[in-house]
Amino acid sequence: MSDGIQRQYASRIEGMTSFKVVDFLEAAVKMEAQGRDIVRMEAGEPAFPTAPAIIEAASAALRDEKTFYTPSFGIIELREAIAGFYQTRYGLNIPAERVVVTTGSSAALGLICDLIINPGDGLQLTDPGYPCNANFVRRAGGEPQLIPVDADNAYQLTPEAVAAYWQDNTVGVLVASPSNPTGEMLSRDNQRGINDVVASHNGVLIMDELYHGLVYDQQESSILEINNDAMVINSFSKYFGMTGWRLGWMVVPEDALEPINIMAQNFYISPPSIAQYAALGAFEPATIEIMEARRAEFRQRRDYLVPALRELGFSIPNMPAGAFYIYAGIEKLAADSEAFCWDMLERAEVAFTPGTDFGEHLARQHVRFSYTQPMDRLELAVERLSKALAS
Ligand SMILES: Cc1ncc(COP(=O)(O)O)c(C=O)c1O
Repeated sequence: MSDGIQRQYASRIEGMTSFKVVDFLEAAVKMEAQGRDIVRMEAGEPAFPTAPAIIEAASAALRDEKTFYTPSFGIIELREAIAGFYQTRYGLNIPAERVVVTTGSSAALGLICDLIINPGDGLQLTDPGYPCNANFVRRAGGEPQLIPVDADNAYQLTPEAVAAYWQDNTVGVLVASPSNPTGEMLSRDNQRGINDVVASHNGVLIMDELYHGLVYDQQESSILEINNDAMVINSFSKYFGMTGWRLGWMVVPEDALEPINIMAQNFYISPPSIAQYAALGAFEPATIEIMEARRAEFRQRRDYLVPALRELGFSIPNMPAGAFYIYAGIEKLAADSEAFCWDMLERAEVAFTPGTDFGEHLARQHVRFSYTQPMDRLELAVERLSKALAS
C-alpha cells in the first residue's frame, strides 16, 4: 500500500521517453493471455532458440561452478575469442585488451556516453534511430542532437549532414549500421566521410555494429577498418540470438580503457559469468553454421515481406540491407502511426511498432515491422492485414 508521501525524483528522468515497443509487447502478451493469437512483429529479437553449443557451454560452466564475479572487462578467453572474430570476419588485428565485454551492448552504450559526455555536451544521433540512445545521452547530462534522415540517403547520416549539424557543444556522433528501425546501412564512402568530419572537430565516432552478420546482399565492413580508434559497439543479442543472456561488447581505443574500467568496476562489477562462458560456444564452427543458415532464413523473410507489404499499400522505397526490420510509410493507409498500430493490433491481431518510438521526423507516417517470426506467421500477418485494411 502506498505511504501517501509525494516524493520528488531526480529531474533527469523527466526528459526520458518510454520505449513504446514495450507498450505494444505488453498489450500483445495480455491479448495472448486472453486466448487470442497475435502475430508478433513488434520486438527486435530473433525467435530462434539458443544454439546447442552455447547451451552446452553454459551447462558446463554451471557444472564447473563458474558462478562468481569475473574481471570487469570479462573473462580473457572471451575477449580473445571476440578479437579472433574480428580477424576472421574483417581481417582485422584487434588486441584482446581493447575488447570490453559488457552486460548487453546497452551497458556499453551507457559507459561510452558517460565517458565522453559532460553536462551540456551534445551527441549527434539519427532520427529515426534506436530510441534508447537519446536517453543514454540524457542520463550523462547531455543533449541528443537529432539529425533527420530520409530514404534518399538510406536513412543514414551523410558527411554533409554531420558537418552542417555540428554545434559548438557537439562531442561526437553515434551511428548504427545496419540501423534500427530501418535496416539500412552506411556506405563505406560515407563512413569514411563522416569519420573525416568528426576527426576535423576532434570528436568521437561511435559505431553501433550490432546488426553485423545480418546483412543480406553485401559484405559489411567495420569502422575499425577505417579508423582503428573509433568506438565500436556490438552484442551477442542479434546475430547470435542471445538477447536474454545480456551480453555485449565494445572495442575502444587504448586510452579509454582505464576510465571505462573504473566505471565498469563501480557500476556493474562484471558482466554475468554464466553468459560469458556460454558465449564461448558462439564462435564454434557449428554455431556459426547455424547462424549463417539463420541469416539465409532472414533474407528469405525480407524478400517475401517487402513486396507483400508494398502490395498492401505500405511504402518501402528501398530494399533494407540488413537487420530484421522494415521501416514502412503508411501515408496511403492512415494519418497517425500510433492509432494505426493500436487499430491493427486490435482488428488484425498483428503487433508492430509506430515510428514515434524511434524519433520525431515523419514518425507519425511510419511503422516498423520486425521479421523475427517464421515465414508461415509472416504470411498469416499479411493475410490478416490485407483483410483488416480492406474492411
Ligand atoms: C541499434 C541497437 N543498439 C543497441 C541495442 C541494445 O541491445 P543489447 O543490449 O541487447 O545488446 C539494440 C537493441 O535492440 C539495438 O537495436
